[in-house]
Amino acid sequence: MNELNSLYDLIGGETKLRALVDRFYDIMDYSPEAEEIRAYHAKSLIQSREKLFMFLSGWSGGPALYVEKFGHPRLRQRHMPFSIGEMERDQWLWCMSKALDESELLPTVKELLKTRFSEVADFMRNKAEGAEVKSEK
Ligand code: HEM
Repeated sequence: MNELNSLYDLIGGETKLRALVDRFYDIMDYSPEAEEIRAYHAKSLIQSREKLFMFLSGWSGGPALYVEKFGHPRLRQRHMPFSIGEMERDQWLWCMSKALDESELLPTVKELLKTRFSEVADFMRNKAEGAEVKSEK
């Protein structure tokens, strides 16, 4: 056993991770602030909840449930059918931030997770936007 706590342990294991993912999708489901990304998802969010939970389990250092069942996630590739720019990224992060803020995790753990999620969500962008064109100068 590693002496350092994994993110999975810091979150509180399976039950807490499931609760976080459920809250995240509940927020996405009812918030006008996340309307555009909600519309990308199927009417029922049951599969999304299960897959995000399974993915985050391994991603955070817990059991690699997603990889065991579906193989390599190729997450960026899987998001290609959806146009993701800054707005969509920020909607996703807004839902996750709210879910984290409502949780009983330690403030330092919340901040750590927000930073890590920001990195992954930013990596998922696949739409060319004004800011990127400017940065090419
Ligand atoms: C940046 C904005 C994002 C948008 C708009 C977005 C949207 C979506 C949509 C529409 C799906 C397909 C519906 C489904 O199967 O549930 C999906 C699947 C998924 N997303 Fe995202 N997502 C974003 C970011 C992320 C991030 C940051 C993560 C991980 C931390 C993530 C993890 C997943 C996983 C694991 C799946 C299931 C993949 C599969 O089909 O096996 N997504 N996402």
